[in-house]
Amino acid sequence: MPNKNFYITTPIYYPSGKPHMGHAYSSIVADIFARFKRLDDFNVFFLTGTDEHGLKMQREAEKNSKEVKIFCDELSSKFKDLTKILNLTNDDFIRTTEKRHFKSVLDIWNRLEKSKDIYLSKYKGWYSVSDEAYYDEDEIEIKNNNKISKVSGSKVEWVEEESYFFKLSSWEDKLLKFYNDNPSFILPSSRRNEVIEFVKKGLKDLSVSRTSFSWGIPVPSNSKHLIYVWLDALTNYLSALNFPNTSDQKYKKFWPASIHIIGKDILRFHAIYWPAFLMAAKIPLPKRVYGHGWILSDDKKMSKSLGNILDPIEIINNFGVDQLRYYLSKEVSLGNDGNISLKNLTNCINNDLANNYGNLCQRVFAYINKNCNSKIPSCNKLEEDDKKLNNQIIESLSELRSLMDNQELNQYLKKVINFSFNANKYFNDQKPWSLKEKNPERMSTILYVILNQIRSISVLLNPIIPKATEKVLSILSVGKTDMTIDSLKDTKILKVGTILKKSDILFKKIENDN
Ligand code: ME8
Ligand code: MG
Repeated sequence: MPNKNFYITTPIYYPSGKPHMGHAYSSIVADIFARFKRLDDFNVFFLTGTDEHGLKMQREAEKNSKEVKIFCDELSSKFKDLTKILNLTNDDFIRTTEKRHFKSVLDIWNRLEKSKDIYLSKYKGWYSVSDEAYYDEDEIEIKNNNKISKVSGSKVEWVEEESYFFKLSSWEDKLLKFYNDNPSFILPSSRRNEVIEFVKKGLKDLSVSRTSFSWGIPVPSNSKHLIYVWLDALTNYLSALNFPNTSDQKYKKFWPASIHIIGKDILRFHAIYWPAFLMAAKIPLPKRVYGHGWILSDDKKMSKSLGNILDPIEIINNFGVDQLRYYLSKEVSLGNDGNISLKNLTNCINNDLANNYGNLCQRVFAYINKNCNSKIPSCNKLEEDDKKLNNQIIESLSELRSLMDNQELNQYLKKVINFSFNANKYFNDQKPWSLKEKNPERMSTILYVILNQIRSISVLLNPIIPKATEKVLSILSVGKTDMTIDSLKDTKILKVGTILKKSDILFKKIENDN
């Protein structure tokens, strides 16, 4: 029996400000994979949430003159609202301020202490509060009189305090062996090479506690210290499965995680620290970490400090949620950085959604409403052209699965949208309108074949544009049980004689006034 469980996570975001397009991007991408796996009959657990401890959150709350917990509650709820707005199918939303998470972090800490991977010493070095990360001297540069990290560009400050350390240096060889034995642990492979290079240069022990502020989880044996926020945050992936109760069904079913979807900015934490912590704690390692690229606006990383943020909620209000989901997955190649703009968004909606898929559905439904009493026509003898059209999808199913399994999302989409292009072409070439009097049987068959294409394309697009495709599938009376990838092998699922349900327009064309 193949393992039919699939556990996928997004990063848990800092609710230090309201969510932006970058956050929306990671979440949408993870949701698409989660939805695809469900369509492919997997038991899926999809987790997202917020990362609420640490100096960054404490300072942000102080800036806003709020008590930290209240500040976290308010902003975390905005991230939770966003899951609804983006139409995410997350099974849980974890907050690191929850009790269940404390339990799990304390257990990890105790395991690391027990295995003698933690010792007390003193930290002297640079720290970026914005990244909640330590940087070496050679990772620092001066820009406009500020010391900043070369890695992230964010400001660093000098820290000198008593600290517990995790013996990261002693895991170097084991990590390298692990990357070598598991070549798809870090994807895309360019990212994998970066990580391997970094580890090969040598790892220093990692400071895993702080003493100079108060917002976090105290070290169990020494409450002067707070557990480093990244050790705290990474553990969320286990807390949501009821770890440390390792006999819990959720944990047994879903750990190790199938994939952590993250941005490349936090690769070091997920691909180096996290597996080292887990090895030391004797917990199996996740199967994959996928570090996607950055969403750029005007060719720069979108960030609060640059003020070039496209607000996902505003875009959804103006264009629709499917439109945003489609655009981000089609235009940005997941592993690379991608520029987004309103102009491209408009073109993408018009070309792919309105003129291609939307038009295919609309014209076929309109034709059947007008000429076939709105009933799904019968499928008679198939000709070569019909079989060819049917086969284009059936023969691609294993390739489509493997594209999704390798997170080649925009390749997948290009293929599916091409099916829709071919189906439109078939409709034009076959000219069912010319057969209405001459050969109504043939006309019926053509219409049936094309309705089956619409069904198949809608199932394949469902993970990306759930709202519109569910509308289309309901017009065709395709129920949930027939919404599977496997069902696409069967070209006779649509029931002849079923009345097409009425529906309004799927995708409005956007006037392009740029
Ligand atoms: O790093 N383009 O939280 P965070 C694409 N709490 N993705 C972007 C992006 C952009 N311009 N900006 C942000 C943290 N992201 C930690 C994570 S996980 C245990 C803890 C996405 O609020 C991307 O996924 O800074 C990035 O990794 C994440 O948001 C960082 O969110
Ligand atoms: Mg960040």
